[in-house]
Amino acid sequence: MNRNQIINRNQKRWAPGSFLMGTLIMASLIGFVQPEESFDPAAIFLTWQSDPTTTMIIDWHTTPEHGDRPVILHYKKVGDQEWIETVGNYRGFPHSDRRINRVELRRLEPATSYRFRFGEDSREYNFRTMPADLNEPITFVTGGDTSHENHDMTEVAMTYDPDFILWGGDLAYANGDPERVHYWYGWFDGIKQHLISNDGRVVPVVVAIGNHELFGERRISDLSVEEALEFMRKYNLWDDKPTYFFDLFAFPGRQEMAYGVLDFSDYMSVVLLDSDHSSSITGAQSGWLEAVLSERAGTPHIYPIYHVPAYPSHRSYSGGTQTRIRENWVPLFERHGVRVAFENHNRPVFILPSGIGCGIDITWPAFNTNGSVDFIEIKRTCILKSFTPYRMTTGKC
Ligand SMILES: [Fe+2]
Repeated sequence: MNRNQIINRNQKRWAPGSFLMGTLIMASLIGFVQPEESFDPAAIFLTWQSDPTTTMIIDWHTTPEHGDRPVILHYKKVGDQEWIETVGNYRGFPHSDRRINRVELRRLEPATSYRFRFGEDSREYNFRTMPADLNEPITFVTGGDTSHENHDMTEVAMTYDPDFILWGGDLAYANGDPERVHYWYGWFDGIKQHLISNDGRVVPVVVAIGNHELFGERRISDLSVEEALEFMRKYNLWDDKPTYFFDLFAFPGRQEMAYGVLDFSDYMSVVLLDSDHSSSITGAQSGWLEAVLSERAGTPHIYPIYHVPAYPSHRSYSGGTQTRIRENWVPLFERHGVRVAFENHNRPVFILPSGIGCGIDITWPAFNTNGSVDFIEIKRTCILKSFTPYRMTTGKC
């Protein structure tokens, strides 16, 4: 990482009593102005691949109208005078002329607010790192099945001023379709419009994969077989191809794997799982999960999140995916003391029996793991009404 320090010219200019201040006032009288906030990226997205107490990934999207801007980001701790300049890299946005610019900041201080900007012609934003311990509660919001055009969930999430958001798949509903790339534009628009507070704080988002992140031949069922094959050849598609996911999101773990673990120091781990979308539940992923849980025996808060539920609220209980999760993952959760798992698709959360009565402030219903299912139909409006932040306090229940 290039961490060359540069001078924050704005702050120098406006330092009280400086000679430069008078110079600038004169300059403004003859028509010179401060650098304008003329650069406005098409999207801003913050997430993590490594420990959220000391790192932050910042993505910003640019279009051809922005020109060939260098991938430079300035940041500084709130209260510091000098900006630090860092240089990142970029990749193409699949099936788009957008560019995804990315910087990962490392060696940050925990529980600290930082300002950042995309050059001198950019608005300033800010973020805060996660705390090093749980002396103070942290708040995150989780849910899934968001939308490219309805941003209600994002708006509601922000009313809780969360430290971060955890989305459990089925994000933009683009279905991996190159001709639905605008769905992703709409999804990122929602992030930009609603996940930035009035004072410029950008809320990080961690995502899991869902079935609507994959291309499916059935998605173009209005075409003839020949037309569908031609469509797939044209865009280099295959059934269940995660067309956008790995390009759009920095993700913890191995490249092009939609399962990984994010460790918040030694007090919390979020385990992102792939419920038969890009990787099979059985085999390598389940073996990996067992190792991850074993290695974190001393971690007091472990939260798996995945898309298809083990205990569906209205889909078939005996369906293949849900059965495989109950047979392969749930026993691991129980053996390793996992108390809460976040499910989506048609079910927001399930709490293992050991988690009930722990004083965890979740208002969603609890379910058994013995095969009995409460057939509660949970629709988005219902989720919104019971959308509750998960407040976590120090210690293991
Ligand atoms: Fe789904």
